[in-house]
Amino acid sequence: MTHASYEAADALLDPRAHADGRADGIWREMRASHPWVRHEPDGYPAFWSVTRYDDVRSVYADPESFSSQGGVLLRPSANGEDPGTGLTLALTDPPRHNGLRSMLAPHFNERSARALADRLRQDVREVLARAADSGEFDFAHDVAGRLSSLLIARLLGVPDADLDTVVRWIEEAFAAAKPMTSHVPLTRYVIDLMEQRDEEPADDAISLLLDGEVDEELLTETEVLLNCENLLGASENAGLSIAAGMAALLDHPEQWHDLREHPEIQAGAVEEILRWGSSATHSMRTATSDMERDGQRIRKGERVVLWVRSANRDEKEFDRPEEFDLRRRPNRHLALGFGPHVCIGQTMARHQSRIFLDELVTSVASFEQTGPVTPLASIAVNGPARLPMRLKLK
Ligand code: HEM
Repeated sequence: MTHASYEAADALLDPRAHADGRADGIWREMRASHPWVRHEPDGYPAFWSVTRYDDVRSVYADPESFSSQGGVLLRPSANGEDPGTGLTLALTDPPRHNGLRSMLAPHFNERSARALADRLRQDVREVLARAADSGEFDFAHDVAGRLSSLLIARLLGVPDADLDTVVRWIEEAFAAAKPMTSHVPLTRYVIDLMEQRDEEPADDAISLLLDGEVDEELLTETEVLLNCENLLGASENAGLSIAAGMAALLDHPEQWHDLREHPEIQAGAVEEILRWGSSATHSMRTATSDMERDGQRIRKGERVVLWVRSANRDEKEFDRPEEFDLRRRPNRHLALGFGPHVCIGQTMARHQSRIFLDELVTSVASFEQTGPVTPLASIAVNGPARLPMRLKLK
């Protein structure tokens, strides 16, 4: 049995190919003729690239055949095993994953999102007001990044008095693109908060992690801390998605006008922004047995990389996939994953994004881009790293 080889596909490991758009062209060709490609790159484990919508969705839906335990992001071999392996929500398989997920789920459901909605709206208003006051600002950092940091700080239960400091630490940790645990003040702060919540539980994610049991056992301190890190790291996506949405609205003034005139399309607009931005570029799984896919032999233990952004541009699933269309319907995108590991923050992220769009329509008189977008160069997440703008409030 031969392996499909497609040399251009190796360029997908070059972060610059994701920043300059080359990846989109490579994925288009892979979807057409090489839907499962095996790579053996220097410095990384051998892995399969999966690019079609149906294949990405079916791998996501099948945790028995495709495990998350060995990591969900492709990492250089030299980095070794992810410290969260077998311990965090993202890096566990059923049945342990089900236990962790049901422990945290109540804090991330529709009811919790509604309870947080007024605060989230207040945050959006303050962040926009601060941006308007500052003249020229970087939307990616000063607005979108700040909103995602505020969201996760609120979900973890950071008291209002500490918000500014904690948000700054979260931003620094993201900017360094290193695990949160390497950011000493933030880690120390989360450990302090864990101690406080241990004595006096509150309505927040840390308290749920401290009180909940999996297999009738409490989580260890390390598990609680790593799960907080998992939440913090994953929440960066919310800001990248909002920034990608803003860039798309600037590039498509006719879509912005439609949104401004028709508030009823907001919910659909949030979905199209999620699909368009696809801020999580890939998810990874590990094959749990030898198997055949598209006539090829996948071996037990091999990595399988799901290129989410490619799936969300698959012409077999989406009509005119390269068009940004806020009225797109149906829009069964995979930007938030699918199956048992589907994003636990999805309801919160959708609410925040919708509130942002609503405030953009109702509170902002005008906005303009003042310089070119600088895209992120990464194989894991994408979106604007910098988006210079100016705006005026009503
Ligand atoms: C637009 C914003 C977001 C996007 C595009 C996004 C994307 C994703 C994707 C693609 C997955 C699936 C990963 C996999 O299956 O391996 C995922 C899972 C996850 N997301 Fe999000 N996410 C967003 C917002 C958030 C927020 C705000 C939080 C935290 C509050 C969050 C926390 C998580 C966690 C903890 C998981 C793992 C869930 C599990 O394994 O059961 N995400 N996200």
